[in-house]
Amino acid sequence: MRVGARVTMVSDTQLDDDRTSAVIDPTEKKCGVNVFRAPRIANRAIAAYPHRAWLLLALTGLMVDITHYLNDCKFILVSNREPYEHMRGPGGIEVKQPAGGLVTALDPTMRRTHGTWVAWGSGTADRDVSDETGRVAVPPGEECYTVRRVWLNDADINGYYHGFSNRALWPLCHMLIQHFEFRTEYWERYRTVNLRFAHAVADEAERCTGRAMAWIQDYHFALASEYLRAMRPSLFIHQFWHIPFPPADILRLLPAGIHEAVLRGMLGNDLVEFQIDRYAVNFLDCVDKFVAEARVDHVHQTVSFRDRVIHVGAFPISIDVDRFEWMAASDDSRARVATLRGRYAKGTRQLGVCVDRIDYTKGIPERIRALETMWSESPELRERFTFIFVCTPSRTDLPAYNALERDVTQSVMAINEKFGTPEWTPIVLINENVDSDLLAAVYRSADLCIVSSLQDGMNLVAKEFVACQLDERGVLILSRFTGSAEEIDGALLMNPFNVDGFVAAIRTGLEMSPEERRRRMHRMRRQLHNSTIFDWLDSILARSTEIMGAQHQLHAVV
Ligand code: ADP
Ligand code: F6P
Repeated sequence: MRVGARVTMVSDTQLDDDRTSAVIDPTEKKCGVNVFRAPRIANRAIAAYPHRAWLLLALTGLMVDITHYLNDCKFILVSNREPYEHMRGPGGIEVKQPAGGLVTALDPTMRRTHGTWVAWGSGTADRDVSDETGRVAVPPGEECYTVRRVWLNDADINGYYHGFSNRALWPLCHMLIQHFEFRTEYWERYRTVNLRFAHAVADEAERCTGRAMAWIQDYHFALASEYLRAMRPSLFIHQFWHIPFPPADILRLLPAGIHEAVLRGMLGNDLVEFQIDRYAVNFLDCVDKFVAEARVDHVHQTVSFRDRVIHVGAFPISIDVDRFEWMAASDDSRARVATLRGRYAKGTRQLGVCVDRIDYTKGIPERIRALETMWSESPELRERFTFIFVCTPSRTDLPAYNALERDVTQSVMAINEKFGTPEWTPIVLINENVDSDLLAAVYRSADLCIVSSLQDGMNLVAKEFVACQLDERGVLILSRFTGSAEEIDGALLMNPFNVDGFVAAIRTGLEMSPEERRRRMHRMRRQLHNSTIFDWLDSILARSTEIMGAQHQLHAVV
């Protein structure tokens, strides 16, 4: 690779002036210079838009009241990732919101339920701002719920998080088994950390005078419900599994005894929630095959196990649609859209975007390969559009993720060198976790958004793009292997493994008439308005309340 090869990048500050491109020295470890100097600092946003808190409150008043389900019930949410990380920065302590679907979806719901969120305290300054039990009020400047941090040491992080969660369960659930790796020590740590979280939740439940409900999130805690059940037998416990659940032939790649233990752990819940029905069906099949003492009712989606009934169901997650629309509609956003389009979509040139954590499940190399194939085979399509890649590094302690980040940067550079001209840079790479206000503007400015996941539980980027398309100009090109593809009607569906099909979808998107674009986008936007993050929470709480009510009646009779 040539030293000084060009990667065009923008930053939010640069969006407002007119410097656009950076000359990167690829001998540096990270070619992606921190161009988007915009960590998602919550208090900064509040400081910049003091009217926001008021506006959000006003909007909140108009929305569905979910809290009536909870009454006096304390709401305890549990996840690995915390919603706000306190980090030591050059100017003191900064607050960042980590990228990822879980935080995007759950922060708005916690603002509404005012509960306690138990999570790993992963920020470098987290201990400095938390009390002796690890508690801190958030969001900064709008304190309306509590985060209780659980402290993990390096061995915990290696074994439980990088190890069993991300080297074993993550690749298995996404059916990308070339990345699957099992070590006994990972499993042992996973068990220990799950137990520790269960203790923290039991303690939170202990502290409240009334009832409590524990809501566990994701694959990091397959065992926590079982442990918690042993500590608090009558506590209502449910779990949302954010990622796909694999078929039995894949789950059994875990050593004998361990795949059964994972399933038994999940059966500690009263209700297990998946993104789509297919994953719920896979889970029930696995229980049927591997847990001898469980009885599965596939029609009603229940499991009878150890004198209890566990309910299973599909609850597709969504986003805070109003918030994304509101960000996309702001004056700042309008100005940014004008700048972006003026810079990258002059005349008839179109603008494509994608937004991802750099993760091998997201199909980023497949996307780059499709673009390269298209520009190689159809030279007339060069200069027809520019592509903005907003890709934030993720899980960089794992070699597979590190290698992918390098690979993405190098492939983008190679494409820009091969096809770029003095007037046109094919791919603008933004290697950062960007502020959500800016993301909203990027989504709004686009003519095309590509989501090319090889497997994805839901994919919220697809929904964010739709929410921000106020001008209904954009086409969504969406992998068939996302949960969103089974929910959203109006996207161009494609198979990211099929290069020619992928290229054909991009072509179709580029050539689609404005009327057809508007028709499709309008349909998707209407659907999205009927299934927001609050509808999702509403349906989960309604189901939980129903099950709790039935349990109550049963106990009263017995
Ligand atoms: P996952 O949960 O696997 O990360 P999703 O698409 O469901 O995938 O959610 C990703 C979330 O992270 C979205 O809310 C998206 O806006 C956010 N995100 C992804 N990449 C970035 C980025 N580069 N900068 C800021 N936010 C990002
Ligand atoms: O949505 C799946 C998920 O694993 C979340 O649990 C997580 O917060 C997100 O992806 C990002 O991953 P990580 O927390 O490992 O950075």
